[in-house]
Amino acid sequence: MWPSFFPARSFPPIWSGADGVDARSIIIGLRDGTPPSAEALAWFARGLASGAVSDAQAGAFAMAVCLNGLGEAGRVALTEAMRDSGEVLRWDLPGPAVDKHSTGGLGDCVSLLLAPILAECGVYVPMISGRGLGHTGGTLDKLEAIPGFRVDQDEAAFRRIVRAEGAAIVAASADLAPADRRLYAVRDVSGTVESIDLITASILSKKLAAGLGALVFDVKAGSGAFMATEEDALALAEALVATANGAGCKTSALLTDMDQPLSRNVGNAVEVADVMATLSDPRPSRLVEVTLALCGEVLALSGSAATPEDGAVAARDALVSGRALVRFGRMVSALGGPSDFPERWRYHLPEAPVIEEVLPEEEGTVAAIDGRALGMLVIEMGGGRVKGGERIDPRVGLTGLPALGEPVMHGVPMGRVHAADEDIAARAAAALRAAITLSPEPVAAPELIRRRVAP
Ligand code: URA
Repeated sequence: MWPSFFPARSFPPIWSGADGVDARSIIIGLRDGTPPSAEALAWFARGLASGAVSDAQAGAFAMAVCLNGLGEAGRVALTEAMRDSGEVLRWDLPGPAVDKHSTGGLGDCVSLLLAPILAECGVYVPMISGRGLGHTGGTLDKLEAIPGFRVDQDEAAFRRIVRAEGAAIVAASADLAPADRRLYAVRDVSGTVESIDLITASILSKKLAAGLGALVFDVKAGSGAFMATEEDALALAEALVATANGAGCKTSALLTDMDQPLSRNVGNAVEVADVMATLSDPRPSRLVEVTLALCGEVLALSGSAATPEDGAVAARDALVSGRALVRFGRMVSALGGPSDFPERWRYHLPEAPVIEEVLPEEEGTVAAIDGRALGMLVIEMGGGRVKGGERIDPRVGLTGLPALGEPVMHGVPMGRVHAADEDIAARAAAALRAAITLSPEPVAAPELIRRRVAP
């Protein structure tokens, strides 16, 4: 019995968990090269979510993982622990729940195209997406360029829309993987973002909490990606695939090129415009090729197609038949957007007040595109955030960008800038020219889908 003068207190106390587990000994073990047990990691993740683990302890933990790693079993255990730190959705649908996750790039509007295509192939897509990160754009910011579109839906609405329309793209609720939200914020300010173990656990804890039966990753490699080298991208893809399968979700990954933007448009409304043009009048493009390959992968993983190739054929049919366009319209309308979006998207999408063609100052073949510079340019034009929580201008961006290996000639625009005013447009045009390197020699276009990583 507590003596009566002791205030009532709840367990576990700040510094210690059940069975002798405490934050300090977990961190010391990691520091000295002993990965914590699954139980210890589960305790730590719960402590992150509840506040029982302090910011100092979270930062020291992240740094120890960065320096010494967790090993494969530890990575799976941390992922499961962070997934279970909040609500884990379960689906009872007439078909499998599937999703795709991209590690982030430029002009990457695949999610908007893929979700309605997959829904037309008989699977369900409860897609919980993010906002722009670093120099890359975010799916939620792009969708919010559509007037009335609401990404913040409560769980009942999310479930209802997924069941009725086959797909819904929404923001994560506060209940989803709260340990990740806390650890991510600490990593952001403690130089501990770049750890494959922590990136894997962070991405997967949220995806697995969405209750998916199958998942495909689009891991980007190149100048516009977080992983600039193919080697680093492959290491991340292998970690994501092994960990997700280890946690019970059928997963594969494609390693795709990000040495140039995937769409020729980079920005928010302008990428939605590319998606709508593609859904309305499908033609071969890099965006379409990557989207169909990812659809094929996840359809095969979920058992909805015999092979990824068969899945890609079904996906192509959903696109070229126009069924995916109708499905996208249904999803947009259910999430608060205009009910006539498929027919009148040009009218609904906001347009920048200044749209100017960028004429080249020299001729040549496009040899390199500085993706990071283009991404930062769109952010500086107002299309992304410098600080969290800022409002963005959905109208601004770049369109009609040239691709690697294409000729650039005097008098022919090498793109357009969509800007809030003339001054920004002039500066953006100069920055666009500077981000594109021309060569007098012919340049081969890079391979788009570089590798497949399967369990
Ligand atoms: N995206 C995430 O959600 N987490 C990371 O750590 C990196 C990218």
